[in-house]
Amino acid sequence: MYNKYIEKIKTYEAGKPIELVVREYGIEPKDVVKLASNENPLGCSTKVAEAIAKNANRASIYPDDSMYELKKALSKRFGVDRNDIIIGAGSDQILEFISHVKLNQNSSILTSNITFAMYEIYAKQFGAKVIKTPSYKHIVNEFKEAIKEHNPDIVYICTPNNPTGDATKRDDVFEIIKATPKESLVVVDCAYMEYVEDEEYKLEPKDFISFSNVIYLGTFSKAYGLGGMRVGYGIANRDLIKILYKVRPPFNITTLSLLSAIEACRDEEFVKKSVALNREQMQRYVEFANKNNLEYIPSFTNFITYIFKEQNSSTIATNLMKKGIIIRDLASYGLNAIRITIGLSEQNDKLFKELSKEL
Ligand SMILES: Cc1ncc(COP(=O)(O)O)c(C=O)c1O
Repeated sequence: MYNKYIEKIKTYEAGKPIELVVREYGIEPKDVVKLASNENPLGCSTKVAEAIAKNANRASIYPDDSMYELKKALSKRFGVDRNDIIIGAGSDQILEFISHVKLNQNSSILTSNITFAMYEIYAKQFGAKVIKTPSYKHIVNEFKEAIKEHNPDIVYICTPNNPTGDATKRDDVFEIIKATPKESLVVVDCAYMEYVEDEEYKLEPKDFISFSNVIYLGTFSKAYGLGGMRVGYGIANRDLIKILYKVRPPFNITTLSLLSAIEACRDEEFVKKSVALNREQMQRYVEFANKNNLEYIPSFTNFITYIFKEQNSSTIATNLMKKGIIIRDLASYGLNAIRITIGLSEQNDKLFKELSKEL
């Protein structure tokens, strides 16, 4: 009836939308605090918002399918050639392209134990096997052993890692790459790289161009505040980009999304401001955890994971939602934990107040 692999897939569970809380609990939209999907609490750059408003009537026009201006902006920002770039409707779409060109029912992927769920979902769509290392962290020796034993077709390195927030040292990333045969592809997913300030963990897309089998993924959804516009990018050796282009549908980025991303590239100040706010408010989350004797994973991102010993994460998530606070329950990842996006100071105040009552 259907592709036999599809029925077995667990559907991706996205962060709950504000509309659902409004509908189910009768809370006014303005009173809902959404700290569930790692969006930028500052919204997007006002320059982007102005450009969208000014160009709204361009909605009737197909986008520039060569994405010339956006590629030019990215090539300037990262010091890479425009031929080494592919743009996707979110980096998610590039994950799909990658799976399309690499996977079938005889192949396999390797990931860390707890990581971004879409790697597994896409692999299963193509009937590929999913191999996971024992740890949620990307441990070089665990990757080396699994690569040797299983010879996976794709090796995923998610750094910083979602949903745990930890990151992999630059040297370790390159060690994993070196241990991967040239026939396999290494995907270095850096959706949260803008938040990383420690040089030992910082990665630049241009460092990967010389490899024939490595792709760097980035997104405008997080620090650039454009989650709703769906723009992500892949940067790699142009031969690999050419292959990915074969599975890209035409006009995969909307006219207004393209325009938003181009404008966002012109406002690096906005990103700096977002990162600074995140740093300051993250400190409050660490202090809250320490004060309440809560276990947490030190985070390199714009979210933090609190792990519970006595309480139940799903109960906490539901109780907070009834108060109009949406966070992410990590029970589906096999963790008795919640993931909270770092919000504005007043949003975080509300979270601390209500979470304290649950502890
Ligand atoms: C690690 C990671 N990769 C990729 C994505 C996909 O992001 P987008 O499709 O919005 O670019 C996400 C989104 O949460 C993520 O956390």
